[in-house]
Amino acid sequence: MSNKVLTKEKWEASPFTKKEKIHTQLYETSFSASTAIAVEIADMIREKQSLDEFCVLGLATGSSPKSVYKELVRLHKEEGLSFENVITFNLDEYYPMDPNALQSYVKFMHEQLFDHIDIKPENIHIPEGTLSKTSVGDFCFSYEEEIDKYGGLDIQILGIGRTGHIGFNEPGSSSQSMTRLVNLDSITRMDAASDFFGEENVPIKAITMGVGTIMKARRIIIMAWGETKAGIVAQAIENSPSDNVPASYLQFHPNTSFILDAAAGSELSRRKIPWTLGVIDWNPELTKRAVIWLCETLTKAYFEIDRSRLQ
Ligand code: F6R
Repeated sequence: MSNKVLTKEKWEASPFTKKEKIHTQLYETSFSASTAIAVEIADMIREKQSLDEFCVLGLATGSSPKSVYKELVRLHKEEGLSFENVITFNLDEYYPMDPNALQSYVKFMHEQLFDHIDIKPENIHIPEGTLSKTSVGDFCFSYEEEIDKYGGLDIQILGIGRTGHIGFNEPGSSSQSMTRLVNLDSITRMDAASDFFGEENVPIKAITMGVGTIMKARRIIIMAWGETKAGIVAQAIENSPSDNVPASYLQFHPNTSFILDAAAGSELSRRKIPWTLGVIDWNPELTKRAVIWLCETLTKAYFEIDRSRLQ
């Protein structure tokens, strides 16, 4: 059984589902994974164009989607992909945040995507970091209404934080939560410290779409690259859903895919302990790992194991 890119149908028929509760595709590199995500988005935009409809995209910031945006820009410039029918809603923004500040998500989105494509400025929606405290509630309500007005999100793309957050829905967030003002987790603030030249400068709050807002999207693609995400990704995909890891709520969504590079998928059972899934293409290295795992699991030394029972 190939360890890598399985369509949902093939994945559903695979032994990986003994552990994995969300459709998961493993790519060798983040580049190939990002290209695949961009192709899916481009296909949706074109399909909607052929029907003379809007394509409503939920967008994320952070390092993960940068390569997806780069590929979308290339598709626009070299292959004529138009964004004229595209409406976007960004997941979140720090609060307070000046849109012209270095760290603002408005600036990020313009630099990474909007300034390089033919999207209409009035079709771009990003939570506003300059609102007064008293007007945030109304704004959040109207953000939800605006998404609904366009018929809901066709595709929502997500990254995952080390806390397991999606958007800025930190551990403890409810699965029903809607767009709102939230407090950022200390780990999230630590991860943003270098962007703000020190953790003490990272805002304490942010406006974020809720888990419930995200779950209403018809298609969700969540991406993760690199070893630092491997542990939290495995928890989101393989553990029971819980508010400790908000990304695990995606197990309840019928059309979500986790798209990972090899490093981000390295803690999944299919990679770490494939023999427990019966997916075994034995080689000397795997045999050694399995024996060590068995000794650890049984808390026995190698010579104490009854090897006649190992078939
Ligand atoms: C960004 C967002 C966050 C990030 C997450 C991962 O709009 O909502 O949830 O997706 O923190 O960030 P990166 O991609 O920088 O690792």
